[in-house]
Amino acid sequence: METLHTFSTAKHWGFAALAGTIAIGMAITASSVMAQDGEELDQHVQAVFDTAINANVPISYERIATLMRTDNAFGEGAACVVCHNSAKAYNGLDLSSCDGILKGGVNGTFVTPGKGKGGTMRRSLRDNRMPLGISPSYPSSTKNHLIVLDWIDNGIKNDANFKKNVLPLFSTAGAFGGETKCTDCHMSNEEPPSFHELDLSSWAGIVEKGADSIARAAEGLPPVMVVYAGKPEKSKLWLRISENRMPLGIASDADRDPYNLHILMNWVDQGAKCK
Ligand code: HEC
Ligand code: HEC
Repeated sequence: METLHTFSTAKHWGFAALAGTIAIGMAITASSVMAQDGEELDQHVQAVFDTAINANVPISYERIATLMRTDNAFGEGAACVVCHNSAKAYNGLDLSSCDGILKGGVNGTFVTPGKGKGGTMRRSLRDNRMPLGISPSYPSSTKNHLIVLDWIDNGIKNDANFKKNVLPLFSTAGAFGGETKCTDCHMSNEEPPSFHELDLSSWAGIVEKGADSIARAAEGLPPVMVVYAGKPEKSKLWLRISENRMPLGIASDADRDPYNLHILMNWVDQGAKCK
């Protein structure tokens, strides 16, 4: 209930702010305000959301329990507990209790108290499976998937095996399902046209440059590594081809930063407390 209450209060503020803007706007020109109506509403509601998120209001487990039980809480799709409960817990993950959330599933912990970013929870709700738009029912342990897994397990070497068996997969349509090839969207270190400045057409692109090398260099930061030798569970290249975004079946163009995700992350940052 607390969630719903805060949510509707936030909306209320949004409308109040909108009404204020319209009043000022009308004094200038009525027609331009009419045209921007929908857009302004979005901006104001967003601004209020941002304020609420940044204020870091204490989040109770009660609110998290409500989110886990609510359909469409993180984008269009069934509630998490529909598929992750004590009787039926896909991948061993029971999201219907606080203990279940803290315990995690067969692949380890779901949340690390105090650390919202970088955890399985955030990733599962934001990261689309690749190639973008692939059906979640496409298997993630095909021969080609295992070739990539094996290459990471064995040290991400730039050897004959890589050149002959691994690299060509990224420029082969349908190699990991669907009809596109990875290099349709990740072909160089420049964005546009290459999403996340990720170049999957060479060893250096994949291993040394990784993602966002240019954008991050401009901020004095190193690139985002997408592979780690011997550590597929840390390697985005592997995770992106093997893990489905949740809730299962969500469209790949659904907002990757919905308000409720920030609420969930704030709860984790605040220590993921059950009381
Ligand atoms: C319609 C069923 C369904 C819904 C709804 C669903 N999941 Fe899943 N979830 C699955 C299945 C099935 C898997 C096993 C892997 C796969 O097939 O993608 C899974 C796997 C996961 C994993 C990986 C666990 C691991 O460590 O391997 C996480 C995390 C996860 N789900 C979180 C969520 C969250 C959070 C929600 C709610 C936003 C959610 N799921 C909603 C079916 C669902
Ligand atoms: C139709 C375009 C498209 C195709 C095809 C595609 N990707 Fe992506 N990829 C994206 C977009 C867009 C993002 C970032 C947004 C997101 O997660 O949805 C992304 C993100 C990624 C990331 C994460 C980068 C980071 O900074 O964290 C990896 C890794 C990745 N893709 C690998 C692949 C692989 C491997 C393939 C082929 C199996 C592939 N992609 C195919 C569009 C695409």
